Amino acid sequence: MTRKIVLVTGASSGIGETTARHLAAAGHHVVLGARRTDRLKQTVADLTAAGQSAEYAQLDVTDLTSVQAFVDDALARHGRVDVLINNAGVMPLARLDALRVDDWNQMIDVNLRGVLHGIAAVLPAMSARKDGHIINVASTAAYRVDSPGVVYCATKMAVRAVSEGLRQESKDIRVTVVSPGFTRTELTHRGGDTQTQEAMRALAESVGIDASSIAEAIGYAVAQPDGVDVSEIVVQATAQG
Ligand SMILES: NC(=O)c1ccc[n+]([C@@H]2O[C@H](COP(=O)([O-])OP(=O)(O)OC[C@H]3O[C@@H](n4cnc5c(N)ncnc54)[C@H](OP(=O)(O)O)[C@@H]3O)[C@@H](O)[C@H]2O)c1
Repeated sequence: MTRKIVLVTGASSGIGETTARHLAAAGHHVVLGARRTDRLKQTVADLTAAGQSAEYAQLDVTDLTSVQAFVDDALARHGRVDVLINNAGVMPLARLDALRVDDWNQMIDVNLRGVLHGIAAVLPAMSARKDGHIINVASTAAYRVDSPGVVYCATKMAVRAVSEGLRQESKDIRVTVVSPGFTRTELTHRGGDTQTQEAMRALAESVGIDASSIAEAIGYAVAQPDGVDVSEIVVQATAQG
């Protein structure tokens, strides 16, 4: 196996943290980014104590300067970024007629702009090397619209659209969309309409799958040979239907 330099956004909890742990255990060097650095520090301490290779940096994906610094630091230290996993996301759910415009803007900023910022930050170096892999975490919400997740669905559909376009433009860079269904994480813990979020949390807890299933799907895409692009993977609970 080739040891890769893998950057993971939103690595302070849930799918991002579990994926970073999974890829580090597989022998890759992982760079964890998020805003909650206390959580990142703990994960990196766990990994290094286990003899694995990891580091972390504070990251806000809504800020292009922050994303560029995250990538540039990794390039300066390691000479390359092999894989960028654009995983950071938020899901403050509410009906459209609740007019939670700040939540709409946050979802656009994190879920869509954040992914575009990641692409902008790594694309020049990957294009110059004619090598690299960008993995965007979308959702089953990228395939169907469900209220009260209309804006969330819109951002995830946009992530699929951007990924498809990037794949068409890129003959050397691999592009993968990984779309989880209900997964037990902290996604419903913040923002949105309280009752809606509680209902969604209960659903995720009852039928949701473990984040390790998503991490393994990402690990599968990473492990393929250079010439093989795993374009889309949807992983959801059997009970989600
Ligand atoms: N859980 C599900 O059922 C499910 C289903 C489909 C898709 N997804 C997608 O999976 C991805 C991971 O979510 P999760 O379920 O693992 O939820 P989570 O546990 O809440 O993790 C979300 C991560 O995103 C980070 N994040 C949020 N805003 C950020 C910002 N401005 N800059 C940098 N990082 C930011 C958070 O870190 P900080 O707060 O520390 O910055 C956290 O590490 C998201 O894209 C989500 O939409 C999840």
